[in-house]
Amino acid sequence: MKLRTALLALLAFVAPSVYADASIQSPGGVLTVSVRVNGEGRPEYSIARKGQAVVDWSRLGFILADAPKLERNFEIERTDQKSFDDTWEQPWGERRYVRNHGAELRTTLREKTGERRRLVVVFRVFDDGAGFRYEFPQQPALTQVNIVEELSEFAIAEPATAWWIPGGEWNRDEYLYRRTPLNEVPLAHTPVTMKLASGVHIAIHEAAVVDFATFWLRRVDGQRLKTVLWPSSTGTPVSRTAPFATPWRTLQIAKDAPGIYMSDLILNLNEPNKLGDVSWVKPFKYVGIWWAMHIGSKTWSSGPKHGATTAETKRYIDFAARNGFRGVLVEGWNKGWDGDWFAKGGEFSFTEPYPDFDLPALSAYAKRKGVHLIGHHETGGNAANYEKQLGPALDLYRKFGVDAVKTGYVADAGGMQILGADGKIHFEWHDGQASSRHHLLVVTEAAKRKISIDAHEPIKDTGLRRTYPNWVSREAARGMEFNAWGDPPNPPEHEANLVFTRMLGGPMDFTPGVLSLTGAGGKRIQSTIAKQLALYVVLYSPIQMAADLPENYAKFPKPFQFIKDVPVDWSDTRVLNGEVGDYVTIARKDRNSNDWYLGAISDEEPRVLHASLDFLDEGKRYYATIYRDGRNAGFAGDPRSFEIESRPVSRYDTLQLKLAPGGGQAIRISLNTGARKAPPAPKPAPKKKTPEFDVE
Ligand code: NOJ
Ligand code: CA
Repeated sequence: MKLRTALLALLAFVAPSVYADASIQSPGGVLTVSVRVNGEGRPEYSIARKGQAVVDWSRLGFILADAPKLERNFEIERTDQKSFDDTWEQPWGERRYVRNHGAELRTTLREKTGERRRLVVVFRVFDDGAGFRYEFPQQPALTQVNIVEELSEFAIAEPATAWWIPGGEWNRDEYLYRRTPLNEVPLAHTPVTMKLASGVHIAIHEAAVVDFATFWLRRVDGQRLKTVLWPSSTGTPVSRTAPFATPWRTLQIAKDAPGIYMSDLILNLNEPNKLGDVSWVKPFKYVGIWWAMHIGSKTWSSGPKHGATTAETKRYIDFAARNGFRGVLVEGWNKGWDGDWFAKGGEFSFTEPYPDFDLPALSAYAKRKGVHLIGHHETGGNAANYEKQLGPALDLYRKFGVDAVKTGYVADAGGMQILGADGKIHFEWHDGQASSRHHLLVVTEAAKRKISIDAHEPIKDTGLRRTYPNWVSREAARGMEFNAWGDPPNPPEHEANLVFTRMLGGPMDFTPGVLSLTGAGGKRIQSTIAKQLALYVVLYSPIQMAADLPENYAKFPKPFQFIKDVPVDWSDTRVLNGEVGDYVTIARKDRNSNDWYLGAISDEEPRVLHASLDFLDEGKRYYATIYRDGRNAGFAGDPRSFEIESRPVSRYDTLQLKLAPGGGQAIRISLNTGARKAPPAPKPAPKKKTPEFDVE
């Protein structure tokens, strides 16, 4: 034993990042994950990309509440390797087929002395990233596992810039992204995205959080980050009974920003669909009684400005039916909004409507019009009150044909009220273990009734849509609502940050499409009409809202056409270019036709981007309808400056995309069947009547 320790010390001196007890390569040889137990018996891993270290030796292990820590005094008992290559189909998503092509290294660690407890670390490595998780096997010496601290580290090997939002703060994940040197990050929510000096991008996050706390990343020193599990009211962030496996800790690693977005690592590390036939889960677009409350022209509460009245809901149903939207969201329909609901929620009834909202009549009316009401369960963070009513609440919606429900947990961090095993109400964290249990309870109870869930103020997204495909979307970042009342509102770079951070976790119910570009009190939204359209392509979600008021869409019929046309379910996705927080161009192919859609967005800078259309089929003629910023457009410029151009295109074309400061561009590319008439030459818009376009 002594000799081995001396040898290890010598090796550590000669070649600190070379010695490994085991290593495994991704199928294309791009990434190598190495594992070792160091001289102190501490397990560590490192990652190299094309031979260059990107993650230096990083610690693994746990501190437990009532048993010695699992962190040193280990030896490797055995290692097992295997490779895998299969392709699975998504019921809905950014692409139809996902290839799961990688290799696995299972490292069984065993304490050298004492109780000789085992801990297994499983690594999976792909060409575009790696993940690892711990398995706590069944063993007499460790049955009840109470985890106080997880010790997983990520020691980034090159100087790096990081994009991140703060961890542990009162507003959970609804913060503006910061861009700093990595060595200035204090505590960050994930995903955290980094650009290394070599240009390599790494995003750290997690996959498949089930009955576990999620983590923040704390910088230990230099560029070494460490997991911090979200707290629990019991003082022990995670309590589980062995055997069990932790969620995956993930590193998406690619040569550039588009590469990390294209990675399917997180989905591949989630379990396959557990719900069986999910043909009842429908991707859809929706409108709703929503923006009016956020800008203050209506209220959730009852009274003269009550939004969710029967008459108003009918108006939205008519609007949805006329314009081809499947869904109508109605917020504020149920009793409980009149008091102090924020962060309390005990008054909410999920079965009793306000007297001016006639659910049976409206559901019949919607059905006649081919429209579906979307339910709303705001809890004010009071999950206990919600769980008490969950069965009857979902049954009621089921009875009235409501097959999608938006939930909400408006409460500060640490303010979720959840019933504990002791029968008492506990104040919990939105991303803690108790919350992860609550969300899965809601999702699985909803699935029994063929209802989909869109959670706001939720636990972070770790790809569970693969296992529970009725968990269609969630919020978990600053959405459009901040453009109504946010102080500050979302800046022009916000969505270019989201794509390469928050969106790596999964779909976001951002609710784009505010063509009026006006928030509460007439405040200007820092965006352009063309960018509002581009967001439907750029910010993926299988449910997308057209968030503006019907009367505003009536003022903008031409750009509104794009919102009516754009699909929400895709067979393919390509990121054509992008830099974190600066710009991005994404092309997606409609799952139900041969059409492609392209969206490009910029931050506060004007840009000229180039998009090769080489993803189009050979030998086919296409027709592009281009919605772009007008000459004077910009987040601080003319809010209505906007142009439409139509032209034939083929796979040999490269489009030049001119984006205004804070602007964007949206393009529909459909097969040219020959039946289509050439578009009329653009005419200047009549100046006085419609302030809609500035056509050049
Ligand atoms: C916050 C949600 O994000 C928003 O969409 C909703 O309208 C309000 N809570 C009220 O539930
Ligand atoms: Ca919110």
